[in-house]
Amino acid sequence: MSPFRLTRTLPEDATDAALRSDVRTGLTGTPKWLPPKWFYDARGSELFERITTLPEYYPTRAEREILVGRAGEIAAATGARTLVELGSGSSEKTRFLLDALTGLRVYVPVDVSESALTGAGRALAAERPGLSVHALIADFTAALELPDTPGPRLLAFLGGTIGNLLPGERAAFLASVRALLAPGDALLLGTDLVKDEEVLVRAYDDAAGVTAAFDKNVLAVVNRELDADFVPDAFDHVALWDAGKEWIEMRLRSRTAQTVKVKALDLAVEFAAGEELRTEVSAKFRKEGVRGELAAAGLDLAHWWTDREGRFALSLSVVR
Ligand code: SAH
Ligand code: AVI
Repeated sequence: MSPFRLTRTLPEDATDAALRSDVRTGLTGTPKWLPPKWFYDARGSELFERITTLPEYYPTRAEREILVGRAGEIAAATGARTLVELGSGSSEKTRFLLDALTGLRVYVPVDVSESALTGAGRALAAERPGLSVHALIADFTAALELPDTPGPRLLAFLGGTIGNLLPGERAAFLASVRALLAPGDALLLGTDLVKDEEVLVRAYDDAAGVTAAFDKNVLAVVNRELDADFVPDAFDHVALWDAGKEWIEMRLRSRTAQTVKVKALDLAVEFAAGEELRTEVSAKFRKEGVRGELAAAGLDLAHWWTDREGRFALSLSVVR
């Protein structure tokens, strides 16, 4: 059994203050919105794992295919001794990297979901003698302080989670990632690619209703944490493709005119019948767009790998 450490970089009251601020800003804005990071309590993390197994949700399978085929090349190009993974979730696909990175000493999974981090981190530490697992409960959009671990470092951001950031947030995020990297370190970035609208919409509105339950889970989080009285089934899950912005938007549409009370904020939120609350964007990318966004942050696109069907891409940037 290898060492497993869990560090909370933000005190719980800072998380609470961030949720309060996001809920107040988002629910009093026009149109209404909530940031997607609040989906991921223990139930939200479980629902996301179920999404990854749905027939309609191709990104996880496509990214796994790339990792299976390319992990050896990634290991050879980086020689990483530390793997930092942002938004690591269950770390399932990460196993292919852990297997290939033969000189790896430390794995640093970073996530806001404590349940996902402890489940995955403890299992990996138990299975892999010689690998220290230092899990960080942290928001990757805030200033990240990484533990002092041996280089070179490979920083992985898989799953297409970068697409859940808005363009301005992505630019700030990539600049902060670049600032964490020293010469010889690398960034491995997963991006879902632009494709047929029907395929995209089905991936975010599956027949079994798991994505709808995931979407509505954010209301359960606000109910529990801020003593609100959302009735999740008084909202319909909506997934639509914005062809101009090239992103999927998930929304919750109020079935009727209703007032929701958020008691901890002393807030009453009016919804008109049919009014929508935006809960997530999931941007889809093209190679030149990824190259441009990396370049703006001072990172080169050294490798670009896709799955056989060209649905998803992994890019690797090595800092010189
Ligand atoms: N990388 C995994 C999980 C993707 S789901 C995969 O590819 O399957 C997105 C993950 O990012 C979740 O585990 C969620 O808890 C985490 N997450 C979302 N927003 C975050 C944020 N701002 N900071 C840290 N983790 C975040
Ligand atoms: C985590 N992230 C990349 C997922 C996505 O596809 O945007 C979250 C998700 N939302 C609905 N289904 C999955």
